[in-house]
Amino acid sequence: MASGPRPFREGEWVLLDGEGVDPILAPVRAGTQTIDRSTSIDLTGLIGALPGTRFAWLGVAYTAVRPSLADRLARLKRGAQIVTGKDAAQIVFRAGIGPGASVAEAGSGSGALTLALAHAVGPMGTVVSYDRRPDFLRAARANVAAAGWAERVRFVERDVVADGLDTEGLDAVILDLPEPWQVVAAARSALVPGGYLVTYSPTYNQLERSVREMRSAGFGPVDAEEVLVRALHVGEGGTRPDFEMLGHTGFLGFGRRRR
Ligand SMILES: C[S@@+](CC[C@H](N)C(=O)[O-])C[C@H]1O[C@@H](n2cnc3c(N)ncnc32)[C@H](O)[C@@H]1O
Repeated sequence: MASGPRPFREGEWVLLDGEGVDPILAPVRAGTQTIDRSTSIDLTGLIGALPGTRFAWLGVAYTAVRPSLADRLARLKRGAQIVTGKDAAQIVFRAGIGPGASVAEAGSGSGALTLALAHAVGPMGTVVSYDRRPDFLRAARANVAAAGWAERVRFVERDVVADGLDTEGLDAVILDLPEPWQVVAAARSALVPGGYLVTYSPTYNQLERSVREMRSAGFGPVDAEEVLVRALHVGEGGTRPDFEMLGHTGFLGFGRRRR
């Protein structure tokens, strides 16, 4: 197995970390390309270069590194309320979503969860993302394209409460919409046995209805969680919890299709 730092390949995306300016996310490709709608940059020199390569552009010193999922999420343009990183991480972990998996979500919203799913399934996996609103689909599609993962995601305009899903054999389905309980039966049919259904809702009432529906639809152990993350302020001899904390996002319901 190869070891040591991997050089950048043509087509992969890099984070250009500039001193005193916002970082730039762009694909490594030959020739000049337009970024941020107006300025041009030539990243030909990064093909085959190692992470940590430094160069100057428009009077700023940049370092090229591989972007993390957090780097990509930080650039997301928000419309609808998004699934935050802490909840997305737990969804991916609990639903066992890994490289090569085939997953679906509704709705697309701003595409924040879509990005986390695209990251988890990798280049060999697929994400189908449903939304009934074309404006949200446009926003989510643009965010996924800006992160460099357009080829991993199929966006579908569809009301999943009225029309269900147009896919089957899925490893996981994630529902982030106002009435997830109304999609439980359709999600069950779309899942492989052993596949997971996850619901994400801001209120206890929605969670209760979803869990009740999952139990009566024959899902395996059904359980629910809330993820709380408390940042710490670290100072010599004065390390303590931060005063500010994101107190509430959403409640997660998990169920596994048994057969
Ligand atoms: C809170 S947003 C989803 C946010 C998204 N998970 C994210 O992380 O950016 C809810 C989305 O569900 C969509 N939606 C609501 N009801 C729907 C339905 N019946 N079928 C498809 N999409 C629906 C809305 O249009 C909206 O874009």
